[in-house]
Amino acid sequence: MSASGPSTADVRSGYTEHQQEQYAKYLKKLKTEFESRWCKNRQYEVSFADFQRIKTLGTGAFGRVVLLKHTSANKFYAMKILEKEKIVKMKQIDHTLYEKRILEAIRFPFTVSMEFFFKDNSYIYFVMPFVTGGEMFTHLRRLGKFDESTSKFYASQVILALEYLHFNNLVYRDLKPENILIENNGYLKITDFGFCKVVQGRTWTLCGTPEYLAPELILSKGYGFSVDWWSFGVLVYEMNAGYPPFYANEPMKTYEKIVAAKYRCPSSFNADLRDFLRNTLQVDLSKRFGVMKNGVLDFKNHKWLASIEWDAILNCRCLPPFVPKLKNPGDTSNFDRYEEETIHHASRCRYESEFIDF
Ligand SMILES: Nc1ncnc2c1ncn2[C@@H]1O[C@H](COP(=O)(O)OP(=O)(O)OP(=O)(O)O)[C@@H](O)[C@H]1O
Ligand SMILES: [Mg+2]
Repeated sequence: MSASGPSTADVRSGYTEHQQEQYAKYLKKLKTEFESRWCKNRQYEVSFADFQRIKTLGTGAFGRVVLLKHTSANKFYAMKILEKEKIVKMKQIDHTLYEKRILEAIRFPFTVSMEFFFKDNSYIYFVMPFVTGGEMFTHLRRLGKFDESTSKFYASQVILALEYLHFNNLVYRDLKPENILIENNGYLKITDFGFCKVVQGRTWTLCGTPEYLAPELILSKGYGFSVDWWSFGVLVYEMNAGYPPFYANEPMKTYEKIVAAKYRCPSSFNADLRDFLRNTLQVDLSKRFGVMKNGVLDFKNHKWLASIEWDAILNCRCLPPFVPKLKNPGDTSNFDRYEEETIHHASRCRYESEFIDF
């Protein structure tokens, strides 16, 4: 509710059902906007030649993300370059089409979105705003762990982002510190919608990152939004502890711990945080926060987050615990260094029919 939403003056006494009803009206408005963008086949007026490639910001299974400069506008962007051949060989065409359409349609303070899209003979390209502060992962490893108020600050934004996505019937499925970026105002932006998809009811695909997988996903049960709330629990634990709750040398052993919800809290975790985690890292779906009768309200009203002023968070009006340093608008010092690779363009269009809908 970019400043136009309901007032939440009495938020400190808990988030009331009335406030949540008001907030749902705001989410409905965002959903209408999401749906109209979802149905539109957007055309882009810029071309690849308008940009200059600067540096790699991150790499992944299907390609890399590079920093770009729009030469005449003197503006920086992050561009995800995906190789069509790899997508086809790894049977990820559907996931990638979802990623494109979702990035085009979502607009929320704590998620990235698409500015431009291109495709050529060998690659497809998603151009997003450049989020300058780097991955939460980098900051978490640098500091060891976050102090509790920092964790609460970030957790509250992740809750609002997941609530927005779920409201639009999107399950995210890849929540982890590598996919959470820090904006230059100190607030979060979730990136990487490579596993995100529209669900009505249940879905079955096994995807995600071992330490962050929900038990219902590992056990090949049909699942829905619950998997994101489980990953959120893993994230809250990791932000506060500096390491994830379920970890072993082999993925199979990690999975055994997850399905048994076998984790130990460090002695520094207080009773409220432990209770928060017990309700989130909860194998029994009828007891997991986020997917019970009260939905997200269970999180918004939990004691561990009693200090959060939800409306102020949404409007980025709370003082962030940390603001990334930036020497200039194209500064990449908050990102790791990667070896650069020249991209090879095929002389004729490859996989044209497979990518016709892109
Ligand atoms: N908008 C952005 N601004 C700055 N950096 C970004 C942005 N989007 C992504 N990155 C960086 O690039 C990295 C890789 O991007 P992303 O997570 O989308 O790809 P990936 O992990 O390869 O995807 P996949 O899981 O689909 O293989 C991110 O972890 C982040 O460091
Ligand atoms: Mg990623």
